[in-house]
Amino acid sequence: MCGIVAYLGNQDAYPRLIKGLHRLEYRGYDSAGIALLNGNIQVYKKKGKVSELEAHSAQQHTPATLGIGHTRWATHGEPNDINAHPHLSGNGRIALVHNGIIENYDLLKTALQKEGHTFESETDTEVLVKLIQAIQDRDGLPIEEAVRLALTRVVGAYAIVVIDQQDPNKLVAARKASPLVIGIGKDEFLLASDATPIVEHTNKVIYLNDEEIAVLHRSGDLEIKTISNEVQTPYIQQLDLKIEMLEKGGYDFFMLKEIMEQPMTLTNCMRGRINADEGWIHLGGVEEYASRITQAKRLIIVACGTSWHAGLIGEYLFEDLARIPVEVEYASEFRYRNPIIGEGDVVIAISQSGETADTLAALEIAKEKGALIFGIVNSVGSSIARVTDAGSYIHAGPEIGVASTKAFTGQVTLLTLMALDLAKRRGTISEGYYHRLLTELTLIPEKIKRVLEQDKKIQYIAAEIKDHTNALYLGRGYNFPVALEGALKLKEISYIHAEGYPAAEMKHGPIALIDDNMPVIVIATNKSAYDKIASNIQEVKARKGRVFAIVPEDDETISQIADYCIEIPETEEPLSPLLSVIPLQLLSYHIAVMRNCNVDQPRNLAKSVTVE
Ligand code: F6R
Repeated sequence: MCGIVAYLGNQDAYPRLIKGLHRLEYRGYDSAGIALLNGNIQVYKKKGKVSELEAHSAQQHTPATLGIGHTRWATHGEPNDINAHPHLSGNGRIALVHNGIIENYDLLKTALQKEGHTFESETDTEVLVKLIQAIQDRDGLPIEEAVRLALTRVVGAYAIVVIDQQDPNKLVAARKASPLVIGIGKDEFLLASDATPIVEHTNKVIYLNDEEIAVLHRSGDLEIKTISNEVQTPYIQQLDLKIEMLEKGGYDFFMLKEIMEQPMTLTNCMRGRINADEGWIHLGGVEEYASRITQAKRLIIVACGTSWHAGLIGEYLFEDLARIPVEVEYASEFRYRNPIIGEGDVVIAISQSGETADTLAALEIAKEKGALIFGIVNSVGSSIARVTDAGSYIHAGPEIGVASTKAFTGQVTLLTLMALDLAKRRGTISEGYYHRLLTELTLIPEKIKRVLEQDKKIQYIAAEIKDHTNALYLGRGYNFPVALEGALKLKEISYIHAEGYPAAEMKHGPIALIDDNMPVIVIATNKSAYDKIASNIQEVKARKGRVFAIVPEDDETISQIADYCIEIPETEEPLSPLLSVIPLQLLSYHIAVMRNCNVDQPRNLAKSVTVE
């Protein structure tokens, strides 16, 4: 949700900023801009993608060794050249890029207008840069002090980077509830919303903490203090990120690459954590708080979007295997509804980015009420990973396509490991079943490969669905959340309206929608409810609906009734979502490609939702 990049060093800033913006474009892509400082501050901004900014600025930009850049996901003010960042102070001396929302911007703006400041854009960001200018003008302060004092008056979330024309050897950055990473290179600093623009220059990074302000000097000095002016000791970490992970690797879209990577990412997620032969699971995060988690009265899972769907599968897993009551909450609802949380509760946050504002806020509430907070996160070093008491990374590597795929299966794998571990500790699972599930889980990556081999067939089915305007996804039990996830994948990247439903609920309403124009995608792999799902399919067929079914290999009954079938390998039912979701990911991918949609950057969406 808005990407920030900045450079200070002895090299040309422009190519580094542009490349950095391309890397960050998955965060927001409705407009982009850069500011370069070489005597004066030159600003180049353009509505649209980074490539449009590049076309506009490549020939005319000033050479400079200090600059800031931004790719925007609009909050205040429509996407256009004027609202694009960077924003300048009225005197042209200060330039600023911002990710987040200044909630009291209206109040601040009115006060500044009374002092004679005028505004060009509709953004909250312009208010902030003009507030910094007002403080600097009034008190003659160095830029970092003016920034710090301005931030004491701001309510809301921000990651900002600021440059001052009269201080060309300095970058000033600050954050609260929006991420910012400082890369320390040889004679240079790179600063960004995440490590992706940094990794090709250095692997030494500092993750700025909330309410910290950093001052980076051309001399190589670096200072960090809090907004309330307490000096902090920087903590330098090593990045564990490879450049190949950020490239498409020959695929047309990141989403397809990420779907295809799943056999590997799930292997990585399980590496060193499970041994089926010896019958053990080790999850570092769980072991640290083993007794509190094992004796939890209740697990509360908070998440958004696809991560919330993974949480729903978690509910089935924990209740079925470990017999612990579970509630799965949308983080955005949980945080505002005065939830009842006790010390015996364990709150599990699931997040790919680790930066989702609502999930972070839900965790703060849970923490205040004394619950243990556990994180299931992909992005290493992210805010959720740092605020939780304990947790486990899913190790899926960077997920760049906006539609989440490999993170989802990583989250479900981690939840499965955790549920099995707790089931064993609590004695709620038989030895035989525990060992069977462990063995089957380790076979999942190979079985996913077999599903991926059916890509051509799925492409054929996609062509049958692509011209429809609606679709219904049905599933039962463990595969009901998969139906929700399949529908979300379709609507977010192909803009076809889709709904996921528990198959048996269909007759309580959605059945009214079924006619020969309604594709119905049914996940029919559950052994325990096979006959019931077969009956649900008959109900659809009786109303002329066209059924596309995901069935187990060598299926005999449903394959006779459904119009089209995709066969997936058999597995134990609690593990079936890990296989049944794969054809649905591929289906939505191919439909979106056939509809000429921008698969990796669907309209209005952003990868990391750092605003409420
Ligand atoms: C859908 C999707 C979103 C995210 C949601 C939560 O494909 O990607 O629904 O799942 O915004 O994001 P994280 O997992 O980063 O907290």
